[in-house]
Amino acid sequence: MKARRLRALALGGLVVGGVAAGAIRWTSDRALEKVYTPRLVEAGPGPIGEPSLERGRHLVTAVAQCTFCHGNDLGGREIADDPLLGRIDSANLTSGEGGIAGRYARTDWIRALRHGVRPDGRSLVLMPAIGLSKIAEQDLRAVVDYLEQVPPIDRAPRATRFGWMTRAVIALGWADDIFSAHEANAHRPSRARDVVPEAASRDYGEYLVALGNCRVCHKADLRGGLHPLALPEEPPPPPLVGDGAMEGWSREDFARAMREGRTPEGRALDRDYMPWPGYAALSDVEIDALWAYLAADARASTNRLAATR
Ligand code: HEC
Ligand code: HEC
Repeated sequence: MKARRLRALALGGLVVGGVAAGAIRWTSDRALEKVYTPRLVEAGPGPIGEPSLERGRHLVTAVAQCTFCHGNDLGGREIADDPLLGRIDSANLTSGEGGIAGRYARTDWIRALRHGVRPDGRSLVLMPAIGLSKIAEQDLRAVVDYLEQVPPIDRAPRATRFGWMTRAVIALGWADDIFSAHEANAHRPSRARDVVPEAASRDYGEYLVALGNCRVCHKADLRGGLHPLALPEEPPPPPLVGDGAMEGWSREDFARAMREGRTPEGRALDRDYMPWPGYAALSDVEIDALWAYLAADARASTNRLAATR
């Protein structure tokens, strides 16, 4: 009697587990296979200045750090390979075999960078769209021109595989932000700017925060915190604005953190998770612009809080 009841229970458990696994698989597949047909965001009608290769190199290696995820040779690399999370390689951005620079048309670049969508209409995954979707026309051209002439690398990314944990988090709707198309859709302006003037201004600072992917890790509101799919060894990204963010820091302290990975308290920033070695090449004007934007925002929100107390 007892054994039979146990067997029935185990069988019931298997059936429930099987249904749950099927539901997770079905829901996550639907999200992963969804086809997007965005109306492509183009630049304004004004004349666009000649993009420079030097600007392209600076964007790819320092500001937007395509190199951080696509490798120093831009031929793509492993982003994750874990039984529960899954396996994902970044793309080969060069014109070599298995790379995209040779076969991507201009509309493909716009679709990928401004909309987070691959040529076949499916969303890219983990490609940072929250900020890249704001890329100005002249900068997009500079990036493409630069990528088309870097030494070609022959390397094909391995097929992506999603682990159960990632699928479950997707099915629960907790990881919409790993879908680049979703992120781009939520944050994209309706028209691309032709060019964002390089100056120590809040405007350029806001643009650098976008292109620099700060919001990918420090959260959309820049208030920091870990992502639900963070790896166990990942340090939590601290807040960059609001109460307590970079408290008492000067512009020099901020510059040292961005370029040397050291905080005024003497803490070393983990270069595997905070990509400061790439930001080290930011110009003085760019550090000023970032600081103008972040510090003004932090002060404004602290003052707002003080006023309501
Ligand atoms: C945070 C990491 C990260 C950064 C930074 C990043 N990428 Fe990616 N990118 C990825 C990943 C991961 C993929 C593969 C996505 C997939 O297959 O779903 C990808 C895919 C792409 C694709 C699509 C290729 C294809 O298969 O059709 C393009 C284009 C691309 N990246 C360009 C860039 C450029 C240009 C930059 C810099 C301006 C950049 N990426 C910065 C992670 C990143
Ligand atoms: C790939 C993820 C990632 C990106 C992109 C990123 N950060 Fe970070 N950042 C981190 C993490 C993680 C830490 C904490 C590192 C540690 O504690 O070792 C950090 C720390 C910092 C700190 C130190 C703050 C403090 O209070 O100690 C500053 C300043 C900072 N980031 C600024 C920026 C800015 C500005 C950008 C964009 C231009 C940016 N970060 C982009 C992940 C990131």
